[in-house]
Amino acid sequence: ILSALPEEQAGWVEGLHGLRATRHAGRQFWQGRWQGQGVEHELVCALSGIGKVAAATTAAALIERFGATRIVFTGVAGGVGPGVRVGDVVVASEYLQHDFDASPLFPRWELPGYGRARLACNPGMSAALHAASRDCVGNPLRAHHGLVASGDQFVGTAQASQALRHRLEAAGHAVLAVEMEGAAVAQTCHDYGVPFAAMRTISDGADDSAAVDFTEFVRDVASRYAQQILTGFLQR
Ligand code: ADE
Repeated sequence: ILSALPEEQAGWVEGLHGLRATRHAGRQFWQGRWQGQGVEHELVCALSGIGKVAAATTAAALIERFGATRIVFTGVAGGVGPGVRVGDVVVASEYLQHDFDASPLFPRWELPGYGRARLACNPGMSAALHAASRDCVGNPLRAHHGLVASGDQFVGTAQASQALRHRLEAAGHAVLAVEMEGAAVAQTCHDYGVPFAAMRTISDGADDSAAVDFTEFVRDVASRYAQQILTGFLQR
């Protein structure tokens, strides 16, 4: 279970049995056993910090050092798609790096060596996350499933958010939300052949009030969503 910020996992590791904490590669990892109703999972929880490189190194450590065989990302994102509002949940079907540009050598957003811009999440894990998200928000219209874009940039003006969305849409990439880690974890997991899924609660509208909305949401709400959705996911 990977998140960027401590608030995105607050209270979660305390519920694990036989908890062991390790510091590795400048990051904090917790190993323990999660017990649900008739189900058990061995978990490793980790905090990457913010940004694509931090997320990729932490994902690689989860796999190489801790033997993770699946990775789930839980955290918050800025909503940019139509009808994606603060308090909604977005489960990623695919990921794209919106700040990736090797043109004119390769088409805009395409990852050289991969032959495409978008990397898919694991369908089974994503379906379980989506079902758990629907239960959490109580309204199926507020649990979205679609493309999420990552970049090393906090999108904090309506102008930047609209420009990003329109540029991607014109190329056939209808993006629902933006954040700063998921696509890097998707690429790492793709390279290692490790199934990956991600859920993001919408903390802000990636607009002019994004910084304030983000700070308040992360402080007050994010961990509650994460705990409920992870519980529903692991139970499934
Ligand atoms: N994570 C949460 N809100 C975000 C935003 N507006 N831009 C980038 N990452 C985010």
